Amino acid sequence: MFKNPSTKFSKIKGAKILINTENAAVVGLDDKTYSEYLEILQDKKVNRELYDFLTENGFISTFNNFNKNTDVKTAYFHITDRCNLKCRGCYSADERCDKNELPLKDIKKIIFNLKPLNLETIIISGGEPMIRKDLDKILRTIKAELNPENLIVITNGTIHDYDLLKNMAEYVDILSVSLDTYKKDCEAFLREDGIFERIMEFIEKAKDLNINVSILPTINHKNVDFINEYTKLSKKLNTNISFSLFTVRPDKNNKDFVLNVDDLKKVADYYRVNEIEVSDVPLNNSLEGKCNCGSGEHLISVGTDGSLYPCHMLMEDKFKIGNLLEGDALNLLTNNMNREYGVTVDSMDNCQKCEFKYLCGGGCRARAYLITDKITNRDPFCPMYYNFFDEVMNNLIEG
Ligand SMILES: C[S@@+](CC[C@H](N)C(=O)[O-])C[C@H]1O[C@@H](n2cnc3c(N)ncnc32)[C@H](O)[C@@H]1O
Ligand code: SF4
Ligand code: SF4
Repeated sequence: MFKNPSTKFSKIKGAKILINTENAAVVGLDDKTYSEYLEILQDKKVNRELYDFLTENGFISTFNNFNKNTDVKTAYFHITDRCNLKCRGCYSADERCDKNELPLKDIKKIIFNLKPLNLETIIISGGEPMIRKDLDKILRTIKAELNPENLIVITNGTIHDYDLLKNMAEYVDILSVSLDTYKKDCEAFLREDGIFERIMEFIEKAKDLNINVSILPTINHKNVDFINEYTKLSKKLNTNISFSLFTVRPDKNNKDFVLNVDDLKKVADYYRVNEIEVSDVPLNNSLEGKCNCGSGEHLISVGTDGSLYPCHMLMEDKFKIGNLLEGDALNLLTNNMNREYGVTVDSMDNCQKCEFKYLCGGGCRARAYLITDKITNRDPFCPMYYNFFDEVMNNLIEG
């Protein structure tokens, strides 16, 4: 019997847990099933049901066939760096992202070179995607060539080109509209004042076109206490909602907006109770095994000039994998020697000894790098994850 190298055994709050960090499967074992598991590893099939479960979920196998294949599911695609707003702390607005955007024929080449990955989700971002007048053609090509289950466009909702919106409608699975304030007469947090009503008008127009809209507030120190107001707004608008967490290296312009430990605990509590969706955090509504955040393994990001990176927040030259104008994504990823980002919890500073490490995966590598300058450091949002897993495991064990 062969044990998958991705099978990890953890003792969490005294409970014995088997975790497959490759496919996310998690199972709790009592003393009896744990000793049966050890016997199965020695080729004694004492418990057929357990044996079947462990083989079906890739914990063990009778063949040593555990080679890791490329399994990228999600790609961010940045189609422009131009933007009509100047949001505080925007990670698309610094020197990493001042490249000339590509003409449609090159965008088509990139789409063709993404084909071998069979992507499930493609997220169109920027800059402001609706600045490009050919956005509808880009989306049509993606649907025709790659046919992802989810084609998501993130927009600031302030460009009211309704002809373009109408032409895009049939290709967009989710239009994710970023929000700053949750009502009209509220001072702006990260964006400019006076845009709330323009965004509301845009959302109504999109809904009239039968586009599935989701709102996307960025939670920071100043609006964290109003997180429930955004959820109420989404109910009123009849849209979905997901959240970004403001992630910046503190400087004099943004230090008052940086989330502190108490804020992070509030988000973790809100997440647990309301099962909200938060981008770039390792929290799930069910326990999932992982040994890192999946940057460059389950997630990739394409820059405006076609450069391929492991993540939308790790788009510096030192993380570049290649360029999609020069080769297909599978080849670039398979032959990539730049593994600067491929670190796991077993080598992350401060995470190695954490009992939740194979559930958390050590948080977000980009956040650790952005804020602390070192990719192997603990993600500074750790208190949020720790608090979440601590409560979830307490509830599970008590329940
Ligand atoms: C970079 S923008 C590009 C798309 C479009 N211009 C928009 O604003 O929706 C994509 C999302 O990233 C979020 N974002 C930008 N900088 C961020 C940061 N430093 N931390 C967290 N989220 C950020 C924005 O609020 C927005 O929801
Ligand atoms: S609208 Fe989007 S891309 Fe433009 S500055 Fe704001 S967050 Fe950045
Ligand atoms: S980030 Fe925090 S909760 Fe997650 S593995 Fe590291 S120490 Fe544990």
